[in-house]
Amino acid sequence: MKDTLPPMLIVDDEKNMRSSLETVMHDEGYDVVAAESAEMALELVGEQPFFMVITDARLGGMSGYDFLKEMAKRSPDLPVLMITAYATPKLAVEAIKSGAIDYLAKPFAPEELLHAVARCGERHQLIQENLALKNAQVPSFTLESIIGRSDGIEKIKDLVATVAKTNATVLILGESGTGKELIAGAIHTLSDRRAESYTRINCAAIPDQLLESELFGHEKGSFTGAIRSKTGRMQEADGGTVFLDEIGDMSRPLQAKLLRFLEDGTFTRVGGNVELKVDVRLIAATNRDIVSAIRNHQFREDLFHRLNVVQFTPPALRERGDDILLLANHFLSQFAATMGKPIREFSPEAVEIMRNHHWPGNVRELRNAIERSVILEQGSHIQSSSLPNFKVESQLGSTDTSEQLSNGSYEEQMARFERQILLKKLADNDFQMEPTALALQMPEHELKFRMHQCQIHLPGNALDH
Ligand SMILES: Nc1ncnc2c1ncn2[C@@H]1O[C@H](COP(=O)(O)OP(=O)(O)OP(=O)(O)O)[C@@H](O)[C@H]1O
Ligand SMILES: [Mg+2]
Repeated sequence: MKDTLPPMLIVDDEKNMRSSLETVMHDEGYDVVAAESAEMALELVGEQPFFMVITDARLGGMSGYDFLKEMAKRSPDLPVLMITAYATPKLAVEAIKSGAIDYLAKPFAPEELLHAVARCGERHQLIQENLALKNAQVPSFTLESIIGRSDGIEKIKDLVATVAKTNATVLILGESGTGKELIAGAIHTLSDRRAESYTRINCAAIPDQLLESELFGHEKGSFTGAIRSKTGRMQEADGGTVFLDEIGDMSRPLQAKLLRFLEDGTFTRVGGNVELKVDVRLIAATNRDIVSAIRNHQFREDLFHRLNVVQFTPPALRERGDDILLLANHFLSQFAATMGKPIREFSPEAVEIMRNHHWPGNVRELRNAIERSVILEQGSHIQSSSLPNFKVESQLGSTDTSEQLSNGSYEEQMARFERQILLKKLADNDFQMEPTALALQMPEHELKFRMHQCQIHLPGNALDH
């Protein structure tokens, strides 16, 4: 365990005490850095990692207690063990209150000290393991988690299975919410790298200056605020998969660096000149129109070709036919189960509405719509009234603007106007004939006739009988 620990920091203004502590710890196999004042210790803590600090309560300059308080502010996760001259309960309380994890009163047996240090070592190890687990973001994506039987999705699943086994770079292009992240995750899970790390980096979420250092790391002092050197995510992901999401948002200078990395796997840290080499598999995705980004010189064409070894283009949800219903049922059973609601089905109207909606937000929009409807629904079926109010939009297709409305002859304009009125009232009344007729103060047979005149053919049951 000690081999993997960063050093400990010993703070004592008495030279003898400092060196004897140093010797004991060295003999036990710990790496030690020593400081003769709290001020010097604070500086060191800003520069390099330690797994713990041992400090004397009495120091020349800043006192041990003030040092503790300062440490609690700057590095709250770094455990500090305090050594006090006399064991008085008051001092012990004072030490713990100021942020010490433990205290020892002089004179103490070496075993006592070693015991306390070992505990801090274990704690450090646990925190690191926990962090690693969190960072690994192990995706639970498998081929089965990609729902759909449409041709487009079947082809994607086949391609995922084939490509996953290779090391080929992958580019995923598709509208927002079409499952790009799901595809990237499935490729990693099915690859031989599945036991290694999977790192997702959202290029749009990290400010440009920071993205380079996030990806490739930096050397200490390479820019203001770079108080210690940092390993980049590419290096941490060595052996694994890196998913560069929203790659279309990456700046051109960084695109150049990425291009070089793709060519031979080498890079240098920001402010560094040592060439580093790692083995990562890259998957990139964007919902931007990459062709026009290339045309507008926002995206490098050479980088595009480098990334585009295998291309995935998940189709928009509206192009997937019955997959809409398959997905809707999948999300319905998921949300009904987690919310403990006995809802198993959709009403026929709700089905028609979902079939006809344009789904600009694709699967994500559908998932959100179902979640919302499960929350709202009181009965045993999802009614159309529990779905979001996109009925108007889906039934109108493209909404006519007032300009389009006022084109053509008087007759034509009146017909269009009438059609709008009918559609609006129908939508307001969930496409139910009776309440719509009531709202328009006309008999139902007249409503049917006028709808026929206006060529309004509602899907489902409403008009067909
Ligand atoms: N075929 C599918 N089967 C099951 N769930 C899916 C499918 N496609 C997408 N999803 C789900 O829809 C949501 C959106 O998918 P995802 O995050 O992969 O989209 P995206 O293409 O990365 O979107 P964006 O461009 O906005 O980042 C997620 O919750 C995902 O699990
Ligand atoms: Mg995404």
